[in-house]
Formats: sequence, structure tokens, C-alpha cells
Amino acid sequence: MKRTSISQIFNDSPIDQELLVKGWVRSVRQSKTFAFVVLNDGSSQDSLQIIVDHNIEGGDQVGQILMGSCVAIKGKIMASQGKGQSVEMHAQSLEIYGNVNESYPLQKKATSLEFLREQAHLRPRTNLFGAIFRLRHHLAQATHEFFTKEGFYYLNSPIITAVDAEGAGEMFQVTTMDLQNLPKDKKGEVIFEKDYYGKAASLCVTGQLEAECFAMGMGKVYTFGPTFRSENSNTPRHLSEFWMIEPEVAFADLEENADLATRYIKYLIQYALEKGEKEMAAIMQWRKWQKEPAGHMESLKHVMDSPFEKITYTQAIEILKESGKKFEFRPEWGAELQTEHERYLTDEHYKGPVIVTDYPMECKAFYMKQNDDGKTVRAMDVLVPGVGELIGGSQREDNLDKMVARMDQLGMQKEPLWWYMDLRKYGSCPHSGFGLGFERAVMYITGMKNIRDVIPFPRTPRNCDF
Ligand code: 4AD
Ligand code: MG
Repeated sequence: MKRTSISQIFNDSPIDQELLVKGWVRSVRQSKTFAFVVLNDGSSQDSLQIIVDHNIEGGDQVGQILMGSCVAIKGKIMASQGKGQSVEMHAQSLEIYGNVNESYPLQKKATSLEFLREQAHLRPRTNLFGAIFRLRHHLAQATHEFFTKEGFYYLNSPIITAVDAEGAGEMFQVTTMDLQNLPKDKKGEVIFEKDYYGKAASLCVTGQLEAECFAMGMGKVYTFGPTFRSENSNTPRHLSEFWMIEPEVAFADLEENADLATRYIKYLIQYALEKGEKEMAAIMQWRKWQKEPAGHMESLKHVMDSPFEKITYTQAIEILKESGKKFEFRPEWGAELQTEHERYLTDEHYKGPVIVTDYPMECKAFYMKQNDDGKTVRAMDVLVPGVGELIGGSQREDNLDKMVARMDQLGMQKEPLWWYMDLRKYGSCPHSGFGLGFERAVMYITGMKNIRDVIPFPRTPRNCDF
């Protein structure tokens, strides 16, 4: 007999049918003559309640079933008398695939998120993480659906690169050279000509520059891929391996870029609330148990229906200065906005997302379009409550002379970027794009507070297990 998924059973309510289900036992209540088993197979948030009598085929093993056991059960679907579910199963035969013993780590009633991070290989078997990772799936699907509907083409930008596109020097080196025996010249410097690519190579920190090449040929493209940054920040919002979505649009200015970002975020929320209704409900239940503030769903719904606030960096600094709030870093024109500043704007001042534009040139990468004031660039960051920066983007500098002047000011090597400068030399045009951190989006929508809980196997400084 073919296995039926539990999600299918709750979809179809196939009363009186004999079906086979397979999954992991979420809980079990043993009595003298039967066991009451709650089974989940990951196909959806729902678990199936199964009454397993001792006198069925394989019934001599009923007593061995524990929370965590993997079982196959054949039985009849019946309308359920119990509240909370429409159907249940009355077992006719039982097979135990894999049992557990007392050392099974997930049996404690309240297992903390910290503990579950150390059990990242088992946490997909919990209610909460099943919900988070099914939502993550929905948000990925929503992304492809949104950009396809908007007329974009999906682009796979390279993962190995020879340029530091953000100029932040936070790159993981890629080499096949023997680290114990590096080829060196007379000055003691490593001879990268002898390395695999004949030059120094790294993992990408962004696919933007390559996306720009394709936007200026295919009009509208987006990437969705892994990104690597060796920044040494051990925070609840930073990973050294994360996923980023980077749309790039020919002929778009910063206003169109901000509008696209707004539509995309709203689309993600709407999709999550529709396709992930049960998952969101499970997470909200968990939040309640954790005594987290109520109103998360309401604030998401509100964001979906209202325009995003838009202010310049200069206005943001004024708001922060006038707030009368004691910040660890004093807000000062010219300095980066710190997380505490971003969170004040979103969580306290606007109580919603806010788009901050026109940052000081010094705060941002070399490729951003310079404003006429000679001080600021056409940058935008989209900040959201609970998270801070969700999106970073800009209109791109399309004037070759201005770009070269900025690269010289920053002391950048121009040779490796000859192809990027060619875009400004041949058929240049105004264009814009942004990058959305996928894990930050999953954090924002689920309300989870630590980025390590929304990626299957987090990579952070000094942590590369699993
Ligand atoms: O602001 P960032 O650095 O922008 C870029 O990489 C541009 N090339 C994007 C573009 O214009 N095409 O990164 C974009 C987003 C951030 O807003 C944040 O959401 C996420 O990527 N991000 C991280 N997420 C998790 N861990 C990290 N270490 C991250 N660094 C950036
Ligand atoms: Mg940024």
C-alpha cells in the first residue's frame, strides 16, 4: 500500500478509507490495552491522532512506542470526537521503523531555542521549526512568483569571484594552494599566479555587479543565492553564510526601486499569511507560551495595507537627535546608522517599516549614484520593526568619470573591475537595484528574534557544525 501524507488526509477527510501513514511520534499516551499516538510526517503543521490497540497486527510492539519513534501505521480514518481535529485514525497494523531510547534529546517538555540550536539536525522534528521552515519555503516560492509576475528573469550569479564588490574586505578566500607550503616571491608575498585561477579568488559577498551586466541587456533580472561574509559580528542578525535576493532594473531610478521593494515585502507578507496560515498560527501560539508581546499578526497585516514611510538620512538623524533618547552611539551626521538607531525609527518612532534614502557617501559602497550636493549618494535602506535593516540598495552611478573618481578616492584597484566599468563606457543607462537578506525577511515575518533559528544550519564565527 502506498503511503498517504497527513496533509492529504486533513485536506480530503477520507472517512472510512483504509490508509497507510508514516512519520515520527510527537507524543504518546500508553494505557493497558491501547496507545494514543500523535503522528507527524512533516507534510504540514497538522499531526494525526491514532488509536493503536494492543490486539492489532504488530500490536505486541505498541508498548515500545515513545516520543520520537518512527512508525508506519495502517488504519481506518474516522470522524474525530475530540476537539481540535476533524479526523483521526484507528490502527489496524503497526510497524516500528526506528525506535528511540531515553537519550533522545527532544523529549524534554520545554526545550530552549539555544538547546535546539545544538540539536540542529533534530529540530526539524519540532512543531516550531517545522512551521518556520515551511514558511521559509513559502517565502522562497513567493519570491520567484513575485519577480516572474513583474517581468523579471532569474539569474544565477557566480559564487566564486575575484572582486570585492562591496569593498568591505570581508571575503572568504578560495584556494587550492597548500597552506603549509605557499609559493612566495623574494619579498615573501604569496604568488597567486600559481593558484587555481591564476589570481586570488574568494566567495561572493554579492551578485549585484554581475546582475547589473544582465540588467543592461535583459532589462530586469533578479538573483537568489548564497552569499558569504567573513565579518566578525556575533549578533542575532548576522550570519557568515546567508541567502540574498538581488533584483536589478535598467532605466529605474531610486523612487521606482523603493516602490519595487515595497511591493515585494507586501507580497511576501500576503503569501505567508495565505499559504502559511497554520504555520503562522503555530508560531503565534509558541509566542504566547513565551509571553512575547501580542499583536505581531496585526502589525504585519497593517504593513500590508499601508504605504511605507520614506525619509532621507539627514531627516533620520534629526529625528534621532530630537528623540531625547540615550543611545549608546550618539547620532551624528556622517556616521553609520547603528542598529539601535534603526530600531528606534521602526519600533518606536514610526511603528512600522521605513525607507531611509540619500546616505553620506562615506557610509556606502563605491557604485552608488552621487547626488549633486557632492556629499550624499542615492542609497536606500529598508528598515523593519524587530529586525532593522532588511534591504540595502541604490541607484547605480552610471557616469564613468564620476565612478572612476570615487574609486580613486577610495584607493580601489580598477583593473579587476574593467568589465564593470565597460557597462558605463558602452550604452550606459540609469539603473537601480537592491538586496534583501532572505533570513532577515523570515525573521521579520515569523517574529523570530535570532537569525540562527530561521536558517537550517547557521554559520557564524567559530560555528560550522553540521
Ligand atoms: O546592504 P548589503 O550589504 O547590500 C548589498 O550587498 C548590495 N550589493 C545589494 C544590492 O544593492 N544589490 O546587503 C543586503 C542585505 C542587507 O540589507 C541584509 O538584509 C542582508 O543583505 N545581510 C545580511 N544578512 C545576514 N547576515 C549578514 N551578515 C548580512 N549582511 C547583509
Ligand atoms: Mg547594507
